[in-house]
Amino acid sequence: HSNCFKMVVYPLVLNVLFSVAGFLLTLKIIPAMREMFITAGLKGRDLGKKDKPEIPEAMGVLCGAVYLICVFVFIPFPFWKAWWENGANDFPHHEFVQWIAALLSICCMIFLGFADDVLNLKWRHKLLLPTMASLPILMVYIVNYGSTTVVVPKPLRFILGITVNLGALYYVYMGMLAVFCTNAINIVAGINGVEVGQSWVITLSVMVFNCIELQGDCWRAHLFSLYLLVPFLAVSSALFYFNWYPSSVFVGDTYCYFAGMTFAVVGILGRFSKTLLLFFIPQVLNFLYSLPQLFHIIPCPRHRLPKLNPETGLHYTSKSIFKESDLNFLGRLSLGVLETFHLIDVKRDVGEDKEFIEINNLTLINFVLRLAGPTNEKILTIYILVIQVVGSLIAFLIRYQMAKFFYDV
Ligand code: UD1
Ligand code: MG
Repeated sequence: HSNCFKMVVYPLVLNVLFSVAGFLLTLKIIPAMREMFITAGLKGRDLGKKDKPEIPEAMGVLCGAVYLICVFVFIPFPFWKAWWENGANDFPHHEFVQWIAALLSICCMIFLGFADDVLNLKWRHKLLLPTMASLPILMVYIVNYGSTTVVVPKPLRFILGITVNLGALYYVYMGMLAVFCTNAINIVAGINGVEVGQSWVITLSVMVFNCIELQGDCWRAHLFSLYLLVPFLAVSSALFYFNWYPSSVFVGDTYCYFAGMTFAVVGILGRFSKTLLLFFIPQVLNFLYSLPQLFHIIPCPRHRLPKLNPETGLHYTSKSIFKESDLNFLGRLSLGVLETFHLIDVKRDVGEDKEFIEINNLTLINFVLRLAGPTNEKILTIYILVIQVVGSLIAFLIRYQMAKFFYDV
């Protein structure tokens, strides 16, 4: 019992203390650096307000910096006991390298996200960069675990057997997980507070999951995840405070990438990458709904965020207008499917010569607006966050109840 105290509780308490310090530091430096960001040209217009004020952007980089400081300072503590008692001879190098690789991947992603905010990269880069940044953790995964065997769900066992070795495919899956997490958060965006808000809910949900699993066999991996998530929750909370409606700062792609990579890192190295995806249910839905626009099967405007009507002060679904005759086969097919299932609003015969068609942009936020009708921006953010919380509850239900039908747990 006292051993557990030394190994788990002491470092965790320290981790929380450093995180509180990180929270206070972020709370202090964000307002202090606002002007500096605006002077440097790191700013964007808040399109959801009448007068479209200029607001500093890419503030996620400050969160990232404070986060790295917190974790760097913390690293020695979980290893202190091993070092003190055994010295270099019996040091858990494999655990140590996990920390270094995790931070290398996260640090790379912060850097690349910031580059995106400054340079406005193309879509193909947004797919390539997270793949590259996930290589360090994948390499550590190979040398530390190397297991690419997954347990087959019960209904499929008569074909595949109890376990199946996915080999290289498993690494492809993990690389894609990093791409998905980073971009999925970035495209549920455009109203004040929604990027940090969703990350905040996901973080808290994963932390609850980690705490439950601390009693299990893989407690070390879940403790590692907690060590990385507590400071993340702290810096995100400070950013949330300033990004909440009405935003005084924007988080930028830096934050979205930073958040997504942190989740991918804990999911992969904590070996719960499938459960992690359960906490992304709203993001998965938004991604699937967005697919036709993401692949430009249906035209995709630069911004898909909801549109403010200055007279009512409410947000309406934003539209995409194009010629139906310009669509290729896949475009018409997806339009047809979406229309048949009443998943989009379609208005035909638009424009002077009635040649154009108008549809709502394919995002979760617009979908919610279709159901709820014109909504105030703050309430709309709350709706999205409520959906995120409900998603997490469903995730826990699936993980702890439904999984019994598919696996021996
Ligand atoms: C993603 C979305 C895009 C959406 C944008 C909004 C896809 C494929 N891309 O693009 O549709 O319009 O995010 O963030 O779905 N902004 C606000 N209010 C906010 C947050 C952002 O007006 O609460 C505006 C600001 O002008 C800000 C800009 O959005 O400067 C940031 O957009 P950026 O993060 O660069 O867009 P993407 O991530 O490329
Ligand atoms: Mg963005």
